[in-house]
Amino acid sequence: MHVLEIMIVAIDGPAGAGKSTIARRIAEALGWRYLDSGAFYRSYTFKVLKTKTDLENSPSVQKLLKNSRFEADYSQEHPLYRMDDEDVTEAIRSREVTSMVSAVSACPAIRAEVNQKLRQTANTGAFLIDGRDIGTAVFPDADFKFFLTASVKIRARRRHDELAAKGESPVLEELMEEIRIRDLKDSTRETDPLRCAEDATVIDSSDLSIEEVIKIIVEHIEQARQRGLNR
Ligand code: CDP
Repeated sequence: MHVLEIMIVAIDGPAGAGKSTIARRIAEALGWRYLDSGAFYRSYTFKVLKTKTDLENSPSVQKLLKNSRFEADYSQEHPLYRMDDEDVTEAIRSREVTSMVSAVSACPAIRAEVNQKLRQTANTGAFLIDGRDIGTAVFPDADFKFFLTASVKIRARRRHDELAAKGESPVLEELMEEIRIRDLKDSTRETDPLRCAEDATVIDSSDLSIEEVIKIIVEHIEQARQRGLNR
């Protein structure tokens, strides 16, 4: 009989710490699935921008949630995100969405909706989930928790190289400022701020390559599982 393994690995940390690349690659290596909670917030941000919803107005936010059909489709090699049947996978990575997402994700009603969707999905198998509050608020009982960080300069440099590879011409100092603003908003909001869980393993990746971080995490998981322990 095939036993479905339910396993949750939470990878939290600030913008640009490499969480998504690392979580995706580890999921591939272990044959698990990857859940990008930031993409959920980005999709709702896309809708907020499109509908010009006033986030201070609670009935408007409720209306937006009621009228939104968000779907994360993991059936293909790369996940697809749809908002009201529109494929928003590319659009949610725009600078416009990026600069607005921290304000949208500070909204408790939107957080509650996203959390419900994340919990529903993760109940169906083994997942690596990256975000800001996965190990603290969404899955406080996650099997493994990692908190990934790096200096602002290194994180901005990584974002710079990513955007340059896409043909954009970003300015490093501007990216550093954007990251500082997002860090501040994410860690000072009232509901479920960016915070390291007490029982998380902290990895500062400033001087580590992606491969080195992946190795640390995979070894940690494998060794703990051999000992029959988590964390
Ligand atoms: O990939 P990047 O670090 O740019 O960010 P992301 O993971 O796509 O998340 C975008 C934004 O969504 C963050 O800056 C947070 O404001 C919000 N977020 C959150 O509040 N809680 C999460 N679990 C994940 C993302």
